[in-house]
Amino acid sequence: MAKKFYVTSPIFYPNARPHLGHAYTATLCDIFARYHRAQGDATYFLTGTDENTGKVVKAAAAAGKDLPAFLDEITANFKVLHAALGISYDQFIRTTDQKQHWPGAQKMWQKLVEAGDIYKHEYEGLYCRECEAFYTEKDLIGGKCPIHGIVAEKIKEQNYFFRLSKYTDQIKNVISSGELAIVPETRRNEILALLERGLEDVSFSRPKGVVPHGIPVPGDSEQVIYVWCDALVNYISALGYGSVDESTFKKFWPADMHIIGKDILRFHAAIWPAMLLSAGLPLPKSIFVHGFILSGGKKMSKSLGNVIDPADLIAEYGAEAVRYYFAREISPFEDGELTVETFKAAYNANLANGLGNLVSRVMKMATVNGVVFDSKSGGSVAKNIAKHYQEAFAEYNIKMAMDLVWGIVAAADQSIQTNQPFKKIKEDRPAAEKNIKELLADLALIATLLGPIMPETAKKIAACVSDNKMPEEALFLRKE
Ligand code: MSP
Repeated sequence: MAKKFYVTSPIFYPNARPHLGHAYTATLCDIFARYHRAQGDATYFLTGTDENTGKVVKAAAAAGKDLPAFLDEITANFKVLHAALGISYDQFIRTTDQKQHWPGAQKMWQKLVEAGDIYKHEYEGLYCRECEAFYTEKDLIGGKCPIHGIVAEKIKEQNYFFRLSKYTDQIKNVISSGELAIVPETRRNEILALLERGLEDVSFSRPKGVVPHGIPVPGDSEQVIYVWCDALVNYISALGYGSVDESTFKKFWPADMHIIGKDILRFHAAIWPAMLLSAGLPLPKSIFVHGFILSGGKKMSKSLGNVIDPADLIAEYGAEAVRYYFAREISPFEDGELTVETFKAAYNANLANGLGNLVSRVMKMATVNGVVFDSKSGGSVAKNIAKHYQEAFAEYNIKMAMDLVWGIVAAADQSIQTNQPFKKIKEDRPAAEKNIKELLADLALIATLLGPIMPETAKKIAACVSDNKMPEEALFLRKE
């Protein structure tokens, strides 16, 4: 029976143009979506924007724009970036979408109320403006937000609270047992340590004035559903949860994979499962947590002047090179470096000189000597590469999958150097022909394996091999 695969990206804050970190998250999601589509799985890939927040209100005011116009403009920028990078999403949800998203958020709220997990509480808490989240004293480092390093402000409000504490043990159990997989291990341990300390109840609403355009709390027009309770629900509202027709929700939920950055682990691995448990809904199967992209050892920021715009990289090197870098030059499980220098060096070494050069050399030998691809011919490398590649994907280790592909590139280069088929063809045609056929089989395998990761390159290589032709232009031109 065909399997289904539902993958989600975080929904992005549309308070500024998308940056490289956003491009990275989206590309990882896309790689998994394409991989599962290629496996024949009924795949659904959701992305979108997180719009009911104070951040966007401030950003629109600073830009001197009307909020709806500002949100439309920034959201369009995200869609442009997605298109440029070949992000093959099935749906783009916006949390300001009153038809698609709001009924789901309000239904979830009602379910939490029915479970007895929402209560009103006069509250004084420590709040980080950037996270748009409340922290407890012990979460902070020297009174500062652990992520943004800014002093948490004391805020006193009358809010609705969610009984997160009640779910501590249940969540600990599902994560320990692997029913809800948190990948990689380091992040799993991090969240288990947090659960060990115990979860405290969290604020789930704010006074309307803070986010005037937010989703009203059912039955209380003075309060809006608070950022995380609203945002997390996008994963099910997009599928129609809370609407008249819940068939897509029934088909695809639970998510097979939520892909997130390490800064939003707590929300996804503690608050979200608790909400689902409270509402009686199945839990996601896995949460894949990637690291941050750093530049010169630091998180990119305007003040440090190390910001690289993904649009500039795409304009200079092409989207496929950017996808290559994300997949191979950065470990999916840790922070990774991307500077103009590291990017160019990797591009020249592995794309222009490595893959691009191999494709030209092999196709030249094949076309000049009239040797054509034979699907029965084996390649020059071990047969079990495809199996290892599947295993790498099963472990979410895209870098390992890419290293296998570049292992084939290296083996093929070596085979050309050792056997010199371009010379041998004059003296011993059968042996040289066999060798060139092997190299063509290598290219065919590379094209298949690169399909989810560098789809345009994969298509070009596959076309060269099947039509026995040179690439129309060099796949990757060397940059000086
Ligand atoms: N809106 C929330 C997510 C809600 S999901 C229900 C949010 N938005 S965000 O725009 O700030 O971040 C979106 C994603 O980009 C997150 O996964 C975040 O980790 C990722 N990145 C932001 N900066 C990053 C880097 N420098 N490097 C890699 N990814 C980073 O959080």
